[in-house]
Amino acid sequence: MTRVFGVLGHPIGHSLSPLMHNAAFAARRLDGIYAPFDVPPAVFAEVVRGLVACGISGFNVTVPHKETIVPLLDTLVRDARALGAVNAVVAHRGRLTGHNTDTIGLMGALAELGWRPRRCTAMILGAGGSAKAVAWVLTRAPGTHVIVANRRLDRAQRLAEWLRPLRPRCRIEVRPLEPVDVRGCDLLVNATPIGMAHDADIPLIRGLGSRVMVYDLVYNRTTALVRRARRQGCVAANGVSMLVYQGAASFEWWWHRRAPIAAMRRAVERALRYNS
Ligand SMILES: NC(=O)c1ccc[n+]([C@@H]2O[C@H](COP(=O)([O-])OP(=O)(O)OC[C@H]3O[C@@H](n4cnc5c(N)ncnc54)[C@H](OP(=O)(O)O)[C@@H]3O)[C@@H](O)[C@H]2O)c1
Repeated sequence: MTRVFGVLGHPIGHSLSPLMHNAAFAARRLDGIYAPFDVPPAVFAEVVRGLVACGISGFNVTVPHKETIVPLLDTLVRDARALGAVNAVVAHRGRLTGHNTDTIGLMGALAELGWRPRRCTAMILGAGGSAKAVAWVLTRAPGTHVIVANRRLDRAQRLAEWLRPLRPRCRIEVRPLEPVDVRGCDLLVNATPIGMAHDADIPLIRGLGSRVMVYDLVYNRTTALVRRARRQGCVAANGVSMLVYQGAASFEWWWHRRAPIAAMRRAVERALRYNS
């Protein structure tokens, strides 16, 4: 029987996940279909229960449901439990397991650039959901120094207060977003939407030199930050790879097979070219 998957969000029209997963199913000749579901918050729990009752095999969850899904699940894996946010669910015999793919997606993307997990100094721009996942991943290495630079300092402070007791062997610092100085940093990660729409809003960054690796979570274009970093000799990439590795993680949990990364990336890049 055809296995059914999907992504639940509100709005959902912009999501590239249906294209990426249907391309993956086709590449692996799997009998599955992946659909977008626009689910307003008021009916979210009802919809989840309905989809599970109908036999859905798994689904992704995006804004604004990543936290509200948590009480509806039977099991949470470690990263999802720590972050309090879920964006991939495996449904097996009516039981739901929640995962967070931001962590695994970031690790895959950084590994592709040659980054090896290690003690480092990292600057993270942003203090929202994805910045939290970035900080959580990077502080796996004891001795790491993370600087969270955010427009609203109180939000950066909340992130630091959450992380410090969980990572007592790391140093978590907060700073206002502009201007930031990355001298002494090994890694700079943009976890804000800055650069998504246009180039003018690139934050003022000082001290960017070739020893800093730059990863920009924004995936719809090659941002001004990535272009500037490359001009200065840095290894730098935008968020397409993270998106693809996140999709690959969901695929592998659902199908227990290796994800066709190249086919998934081609589908995403084709859609981005078409939309631009
Ligand atoms: N490539 C991928 O796979 C991937 C995965 C996850 C997220 N993302 C991207 O990462 C970005 C952040 O996502 P999120 O889920 O973390 O969002 P979020 O929870 O809403 O957090 C947004 C963060 O960006 C900051 N911000 C928003 N607009 C800003 C502006 N104009 N100037 C300065 N700071 C601004 C916010 O600062 P305040 O706290 O001051 O409001 C906050 O820290 C989005 O562009 C998203 O598409 C990509």
